[in-house]
Amino acid sequence: MAADTASVYRIEDYRPSDYLIPRTHLTFSLAPDATRVVAELEVERREGAPLDAPLVLDGDGLQMLRFEVNGKAPPASRLSANGDRLVLTQAPPSRRFRVTIETVVAPASNTTLMGLYRSGGVYCTQCEAEGFRRITYYLDRPDVLSVYTVRIEAGLAEAPVLLSNGNPVEQGALDEGRHFAVWHDPHPKPAYLFALVAGDLGRLDDSFVTASGRKVDLAVFVEHGKEARATYAMDALKRSMRWDEDVFGLEYDLDVFNIVAVPDFNMGAMENKGLNIFNDKYILADEDTATDADYANIEAIVAHEYFHNWTGNRITCRDWFQLCLKEGLTVYRDHEFSADQRSRAVERIGDVRTLRALQFPEDQGPLAHPVRPRRYREINNFYTATVYEKGAEVVRMIATVLGEDDFRAGMKLYFERHDGQAVTIEDFLKAFEDASGRDLAQFALWYHQAGTPNLTISDSHDAEAGEYLLDIEQAVPPTPSESRKRLMHIPLAFGLVGEDGVPLSFEAVEGALVQDGVIHLRKRRHTVRFSGLKKRPVASVNRGFSAPVTVAFQRSRADRLLLARSDEDAFARWEAINGLMLDESILASRMVRGGKRPEFDDAVIALHGEIAGDASLEPAFRALALASPGETDIAREIGDNIDPDAILAARLALTEVIGSRHASVFEAVRGALRPHGPFRPDAEGAGRRALGNTLMEYLSVASGDPALAARQFAQADNMTDRHAALVVLVHRFPGSAAAAEALADFERRHGGDLLVMDKWFHVQATIPGPEALDRVRALTRHPAFSMSNPNRVRALIGAFANANQTGFHRPDGAAYGFFVETILALDRKNPQVSARMATALRSWRSLEPTRQAAARAALLTLSEPADLSTDLRDIVERTLA
Ligand code: TRP
Ligand code: ZN
Repeated sequence: MAADTASVYRIEDYRPSDYLIPRTHLTFSLAPDATRVVAELEVERREGAPLDAPLVLDGDGLQMLRFEVNGKAPPASRLSANGDRLVLTQAPPSRRFRVTIETVVAPASNTTLMGLYRSGGVYCTQCEAEGFRRITYYLDRPDVLSVYTVRIEAGLAEAPVLLSNGNPVEQGALDEGRHFAVWHDPHPKPAYLFALVAGDLGRLDDSFVTASGRKVDLAVFVEHGKEARATYAMDALKRSMRWDEDVFGLEYDLDVFNIVAVPDFNMGAMENKGLNIFNDKYILADEDTATDADYANIEAIVAHEYFHNWTGNRITCRDWFQLCLKEGLTVYRDHEFSADQRSRAVERIGDVRTLRALQFPEDQGPLAHPVRPRRYREINNFYTATVYEKGAEVVRMIATVLGEDDFRAGMKLYFERHDGQAVTIEDFLKAFEDASGRDLAQFALWYHQAGTPNLTISDSHDAEAGEYLLDIEQAVPPTPSESRKRLMHIPLAFGLVGEDGVPLSFEAVEGALVQDGVIHLRKRRHTVRFSGLKKRPVASVNRGFSAPVTVAFQRSRADRLLLARSDEDAFARWEAINGLMLDESILASRMVRGGKRPEFDDAVIALHGEIAGDASLEPAFRALALASPGETDIAREIGDNIDPDAILAARLALTEVIGSRHASVFEAVRGALRPHGPFRPDAEGAGRRALGNTLMEYLSVASGDPALAARQFAQADNMTDRHAALVVLVHRFPGSAAAAEALADFERRHGGDLLVMDKWFHVQATIPGPEALDRVRALTRHPAFSMSNPNRVRALIGAFANANQTGFHRPDGAAYGFFVETILALDRKNPQVSARMATALRSWRSLEPTRQAAARAALLTLSEPADLSTDLRDIVERTLA
């Protein structure tokens, strides 16, 4: 392997900057191929910095036309600048001086989608994490905060809309059909929060009056003609603003709040101060083009970016090691928002499923890292499920450990103490320690130690003594470069259930601190002794998923069925049901591999009839409980020596058995759910559709007939139902005329709408079995496909690699070859996206030997080219290490 010279950044090397930039004035003269940027910086030497400290500014591929200090070009001997760095030695002796820099950039040919680029003919920027340095030389680090004034000049016809951060100050006409606008943002911010948008956009306007009575003008900018599809996003924005006032006491702090949707975007959205920029996938929705899942994502992401205004923008990160300070906390806040807006239980189950699907494999594979990492080569590769989703779980655990009141007090102190600052996780934790008087030293390991802790639990009951024992042992598995782990503080929520399903109370407890239904595990092993229990209890543990751990608790199927039927904690009840289904699937996949016909436990199969018809359960919960675990869920549970074909066969057999057994109940329940009146994208309507569609899949598989799905496809009056039918037709009846007709019909209806066509690419990329590869390869040549648009790439290539176990992991390795070619081509355009795609191979060591060897060979091929981006090389080398 080529010796890697890329530098590693280490947390212990952090030093404050010698220079600060209290004020930044930018002037953009926009043109697609040559945009001129004049940066006028008020530079100040930091108190205590050496007088002779050189001024070192970051750049990335920059072309500079002019550099002046206090209005004069410095002698050439004192200035050195390559595209990636500018060094001025012998800076002026005065504490403050003025630096002027003129650069020229080419937005139209910027395919990285970082810095200033064009999307759908609109100029836009993406500066997090290190994109600002592609616009001008700067102290591009989150602990350098500056007050920005921005002047934008552009052709009036090309760009009637001119936006930047903060409040509008001035606008007017210029010569030659050009015009200008000036924006001023009074809140000091790091460069990564800078944004500019200029183009010909449609707008949806509204307003919001804050709790203290200030009126804020709101606007969502979208492609002309799509204004109506921004209505739901606008509504979600207003609800987010109100919620943050009600729940956290946090108000918005500018006169305007703008959102812009663009079609080419590397991630979901970006929280630039006062000017959020979104992937249009997370703004545009109506009943004909968006599913209920799309609506829920829009609501969550609009809220997420809005909540960053306080958690990220007003209080930001000292350095990029602290990324979870803003991301984990903000995901926690958006989860709480969605729980309040929809069903708390259903949201919790969804969030845990996401954590397990995205973060557990990361934590258990070669890319594992702590929520607060200590080193990185490429920061873009640390926008991970660990930083975001596990980071959110850690904040949730702080709330559990401290209790509601102390958690609130800690958050309040954090906002009071650190407003306007760039801080660390230590500062964040200190606020909670000071507000509560509690010591969080052991708890802090959640930020510092990678790996998913495992709890091994066993129990026993002494009827005569009325004693019940829970024996709980914790272990944190080794992860890359952390072989020895320290013992964690794990808050384990629990309850005791009687054999009749009724909650049991107990008299006393020894062996661990137990408070408000939570066992606080702090040692390797706790034997927790409950007294006053004459009847044998069944313990329900990790209720609400109080800690992001795995649990091994050997116990009878009867006990598990009891929890599946009667656990009062909705999450734990779902967990019991899902666990039984997973075990059935695993056993069946073993039978398939042993050449036997899969068989299933009768009591588990029977459970599904009860759940489907239980009107006391909300439909969305029933949909989640009935859904058979996905192939990746089953594979993750098996852990090693994975054969995706056996897993698929087991899963289909289970679906068929459940569907056949309960066909009449399922039909009756499905029939009673409709007609459901006019479409409403709320949680209630979405829940009914989810249940109806889960039952539709069971009934279709059981009957072996595509007619039901074909009818639903033809008659659906919304995308959720039409899409669900399409998935069943294409995945369960591939090669049928009904599937081909549905695909053709979908393309006819939506061929002109690339965002909707992503669903069409996705459904075909995930057709089970070895044929998918040829289909995916052919679709890369479809006119709607483009390697330059991340949404298209994720819908086709990403879906194939991450959501098609049998297709991607073909035993002959052919799909890996295609994947490597594709990633290498992508890397030349967009390293952030190619590196993200490459993580699809991170669990290669869990595959059975033939596939494992083929995957390793593919990774080696991927590591060969000398000109890989730093992003991709970092992922490939860590995956192979
Ligand atoms: N900070 C953004 C968020 O979580 C995400 C983000 C980080 C991003 N880097 C990006 C978005 C690069 C687009 C491109 O909301
Ligand atoms: Zn975020």
